[in-house]
Amino acid sequence: MYRYFRLAATFGMMAGSLLAADALEPAKNLPAMFTGPGSCSSPSCHGGVQPRQDTSVLQNEYSTWVIKDKHTKAFEVLTNPIGQRMGKILGLPHPETAPKCLTCHSLDVPIAQRARTFDNNDGVSCENCHGAASNWLGPHTTRDWNFDKSVQLGMYDTRDIIKRSEKCLSCHLGDKEKFVDHKMIAAGHPDLYFELDSFSAVMPRHWKEPLDKDPWIGVRTLAAGQAVQLREHLLRLARRAQGDVWPEYAELDCYACHHSLTAAKDSWRQERGYPDRAPGVPPFNASRYVVFQRILQEIEPGAGQQLDAELVQVAKLVSELATDRKRLVTVATAGSEIADRLARRIVGMKFDQAATLRLLKGISGDAERISAQGERAAEQAAMALESLFVAYSTSGKPANQEQLRAAINGLFRQLDDPSSYRPEKFAGQMRAVNALL
Ligand code: HEC
Ligand code: HEC
Ligand code: HEC
Ligand code: HEC
Repeated sequence: MYRYFRLAATFGMMAGSLLAADALEPAKNLPAMFTGPGSCSSPSCHGGVQPRQDTSVLQNEYSTWVIKDKHTKAFEVLTNPIGQRMGKILGLPHPETAPKCLTCHSLDVPIAQRARTFDNNDGVSCENCHGAASNWLGPHTTRDWNFDKSVQLGMYDTRDIIKRSEKCLSCHLGDKEKFVDHKMIAAGHPDLYFELDSFSAVMPRHWKEPLDKDPWIGVRTLAAGQAVQLREHLLRLARRAQGDVWPEYAELDCYACHHSLTAAKDSWRQERGYPDRAPGVPPFNASRYVVFQRILQEIEPGAGQQLDAELVQVAKLVSELATDRKRLVTVATAGSEIADRLARRIVGMKFDQAATLRLLKGISGDAERISAQGERAAEQAAMALESLFVAYSTSGKPANQEQLRAAINGLFRQLDDPSSYRPEKFAGQMRAVNALL
């Protein structure tokens, strides 16, 4: 099955721990300590079995995480045969103790900040995303407490879509401290890809989406998430262009190098030609731009043109192998600043049914251009259409929901075998989606 739908559900339960009375005292001045997920697991806190409807939070977050969320397995995978072989190839005989891996696969925090209850075998857990809990753990269970007060005591503001996105991308794209490069990928690491709204759904969400306040929140999440991931991708590109290894193959289109060869007459690549680059030079991986480019035509065409101009330069510079790296850093950074401004604008925007439909039509109608950008671009388009479709069918309830669902599933089937991806087939399926809208 296509990688986006692979989600192993596993079962396990930890005994809930009850809070000690002294934990109820706010501790503003103490260094924040990481307490581990066990401290959140009591049935009366976040370890309930059924979600509660009468409270502002579901209170079964821990159970959802433990049973359904792959993050619980993030540490374990370092010890599985793929993780172990990867370690061996990279000269890290014990990846399960290597900071290079633990930084994304566990709660890897300084020993001095680990509370007694802490266990870094728990994988990616509550405090990876919500921040060190010791200062707000006690107080946040008291009457009349609220989210903002917790944030003041150091809880990470996951309600802010930009911050949320940054948090996910720190591991799902990499940041200054941590990264997955082609060397790791060639040793067996999956290539990183992301789309905020669909990945949140797959996780699955352990929070309520405020659909009563904004039925189209998924569309805003998708659009803002696209802006932030473009920004972070351009910043990563700028970092890599300044690094020791350039060209860094993971910034290029994977399947420009990794496709299966056909007879010359059957080659869609030869048929397409090599726009803006010498024949046979791998192009920039534009997957984190193609969908956003379309979204921008809907929300701010002027900024779209500005960003286009930067991205044309980025792509050109990346596909000159002995490129002017300084210039690449400048252009990528300029692009990231535009993306940042747009992300901030989008979080304040309201989408509605008409805008959602225009986006669905716009993206699926751009079939030829998007498909020609390669498999990874097609993957982003499929995820974006999926996420828009979910919002559209939940809040708009179109009559032909079932056919649309089947057509969108058909997009993912085109991605099952990326090395033999055919753009004309993917484009055909995009048109089939478009015709149903
Ligand atoms: C920048 C963060 C990051 C770093 C550093 C990192 N990983 Fe990962 N790793 C991920 C993410 C994210 C995934 C999940 C990818 C997906 O499914 O989209 C993953 C997946 C994996 C998987 C596949 C698990 C599966 O379910 O098939 C293995 C094995 C793995 N990593 C091992 C390692 C090893 C070994 C290292 C150190 C050499 C390492 N990782 C370093 C982020 C990272
Ligand atoms: C991979 C990141 C991640 C992990 C791991 C994670 N969360 Fe969350 N959590 C989020 C995001 C994102 C939200 C949604 C934003 C929001 O509403 O705060 C959220 C929302 C919540 C909320 C609702 C907060 C609110 O806004 O009122 C609670 C409660 C919560 N999480 C508890 C937990 C607990 C307990 C664990 C561990 C068992 C956990 N989370 C693990 C990312 C994570
Ligand atoms: C501390 C690093 C880290 C953070 C932060 C993080 N993730 Fe992950 N995520 C991982 C790793 C590592 C894996 C792979 C786990 C495995 O394969 O067992 C993963 C796996 C996933 C998967 C499963 C992918 C698959 O192929 O099945 C989803 C979905 C996901 N993350 C969504 C999110 C979302 C949404 C956020 C932000 C709210 C987030 N993650 C934040 C490290 C992280
Ligand atoms: C410029 C060409 C080029 C690009 C672009 C490129 N690779 Fe590679 N890749 C190589 C070469 C060369 C090898 C080494 C192959 C060998 O030794 O047989 C390799 C090895 C690999 C391997 C291990 C070999 C195997 O068959 O399992 C994987 C997996 C891989 N690359 C995935 C990727 C992914 C994913 C991307 C995009 C993020 C990517 N590559 C981008 C050239 C490239």
